[in-house]
Order: sequence, then structure tokens, then C-alpha cells
Amino acid sequence: MNRWDHARQLLRIGRRAETGGSLPEEPFRTPMERVQPGPRSVRCRSLCIASGKGGTGKSSMTAAFADLLRGHGKVLLLDADLGCANAHIFHDVHPEHSFADVVAGDRGVHEIVTPCAPGLDLLPGGSGVGRLAGLREYELEMIGRGLARVEPDYDFLLVDSAAGLSRQTVAFAAACDQTVLVTTPDVTAMTDAYAFLKVFVRQCAALGQQRELPLLVVNRATSDQEAKEVGSRLRDVTGKFLDQRLEVLGWIPEDRAVFRCTQRRQSVVSGEPESEFGRALEQVSSDLLTRLQDSDGTGAGERLEVMSTRPAKTRRA
Ligand SMILES: Nc1ncnc2c1ncn2[C@@H]1O[C@H](COP(=O)(O)OP(=O)(O)OP(=O)(O)O)[C@@H](O)[C@H]1O
Ligand SMILES: [Mg+2]
Repeated sequence: MNRWDHARQLLRIGRRAETGGSLPEEPFRTPMERVQPGPRSVRCRSLCIASGKGGTGKSSMTAAFADLLRGHGKVLLLDADLGCANAHIFHDVHPEHSFADVVAGDRGVHEIVTPCAPGLDLLPGGSGVGRLAGLREYELEMIGRGLARVEPDYDFLLVDSAAGLSRQTVAFAAACDQTVLVTTPDVTAMTDAYAFLKVFVRQCAALGQQRELPLLVVNRATSDQEAKEVGSRLRDVTGKFLDQRLEVLGWIPEDRAVFRCTQRRQSVVSGEPESEFGRALEQVSSDLLTRLQDSDGTGAGERLEVMSTRPAKTRRA
């Protein structure tokens, strides 16, 4: 039995967990076959907040954006910092279950949905489980399939990504309709942001995905001038070496309100919406919301599932 057959076999075990014990009767089709037919039912728009370097403010921004977005539709927040999750803290919930249970085959994705606030549910990432940071292909496929099942119940999917360039992290970003790449003015964060763009472009190409570059947000800038410089330096290097135009969505100032709200287990939007961070985020979000509403909502779960099942030879191309 080759590696893939083995994964398939294991997947059927995962499937059993998702279907409450019984395997579906239809013959097992390839993910591409499942994606192609009929008119699309999924209309959930997806956005991933990513960064190369850790600690750039992804979770603080995602939490605040989730609280803004739930005024426009039903939001599902997916904590993709698997194993080191903390998205639940910003909404003061204590999830009983997480992706750790899904990967263990004990629960389906739909069974870990944790209500946070009116119009906002969370898929918790799980804490203190190191193995979750390096999932196997069939495990990612299983998560994609489970996500595809819950997505149609929502208007928006927000993915709070882990930092870094792992295949798993980039796969979540590539699966979403839109990706925001967060950097700070720190030169190490900028270098890692460029590294993320490079890997993102390569991985999308290897997977045959036609994707625009992520949109850049400069966080913790001390002035408009500083944010502009960060944006133009990254735009120059991206244009030169990746031959693509990087769009800067906006910038968010350094603001102690982020710390205060996090300590109170709140997002800035629910705790201090009139703070500098709150107002800047609202500005960035209005543009983002328009772009999200214009996207086709293809379904991040299905994309993730398909990407995880592409033969390894194709992915390495
Ligand atoms: N605009 C800001 N002003 C001041 N502090 C900020 C700002 N944005 C984020 N922070 C602080 O930076 C730290 C990291 O933030 P956060 O956890 O949101 O980053 P992250 O990118 O999600 O990190 P990780 O990569 O570990 O998931 C936190 O202490 C947070 O309070
Ligand atoms: Mg985070």
C-alpha cells in the first residue's frame, strides 16, 4: 500500500468520526470530482490574516475584525495557530474542544464550533499540542472537508493564521478568498513578510491556484510616513523579484489599548472602539469588507481539501 492509499484508509476512519459512526454509502470520489459538479452552494467569504514573523498583531487584528464583521453577517473565526491557539482569549471563551479532537478522530469540525458572541462562532485551534503545527496531508484534508460542511452556515470565515512559512500555514492562506499579510516596521518582520510572499506565490503556482498577492497591512507604525516607507520598500522588492504588484491596504498605529483590551480578554473593537487602533482598524476593514463582498466565496474548506490531496510530485514542482 502506498502512502496515499494509507492516508485514504485513515481518512475513512476520520470520516466515520464525522458522520457519527457510519460511512457514507456513495463510492469514494476524488476531491476534484466533489468540487466540480452543480451550482455552488457555498457563499461564505473567507479571509486569512497571516504574517511571516510571529507577534506582528495578527490575532489582535483578527479578533477586532471579527467583532466588526459580525455586524454585517454571521462570522466563523478559525484559529489556525494550531497547537498554540489564543483566538479564544480575545472573546473570553473557554473552548471544551478544538482541532486537537478533530485530528485525533474524536470529533468532527462541526462538533467543535464554540459560540463566542451574537453572530460570532469560533473553531478553536487547541493549545499545548505541538503535533498540530505539522499536520499530515490527510489530516489537513479532513479539516478541509469538515470546514466545507460548516461554512455554508456563515457569511464570513476569518482565519487567524500561525506565523511562518510552513506548508500548512500557507495552505490556509491560499485556501481563502482574500489574505491580509501583517508586518510591523521592524526590518526582521519586513524580511519575513517578503519571505511569506515568495513562498505563497510558489506554493500557489505549484498547486495550480491563480491567486493575487496578499494585501499588506502595516501594524504598530508610529506615523503615516513610516507606514508608507514600509509599504514602498516591500512593494519595490516584490515588484523586482516576484514581478507582482503588492497592494498596501492600510496601516495601524502603535496603541497601548491593544494591551489593555487583551488583558481584559476583549477585542479592541468591543473594549475601546474609539482608540487609535480601533479607528484605524475600522478604516482598513471597510475597504476589506468591500473586497470580501466582491469575492466569489468559493469555499475555503473545499479548496483546502483539494490542495491537501494534490499529489506530492505536483506540489514540489
Ligand atoms: N498596534 C499595536 N499596538 C500595540 N501593541 C500591539 C499592537 N498590535 C499588537 N500588539 C501587541 O503585540 C503582541 C502580539 O500581538 P498578537 O498576539 O496579536 O500577534 P500575533 O501576530 O497573533 O502573534 P503570533 O504570531 O504569536 O500568533 C501583543 O502583546 C499585542 O498586545
Ligand atoms: Mg496569533
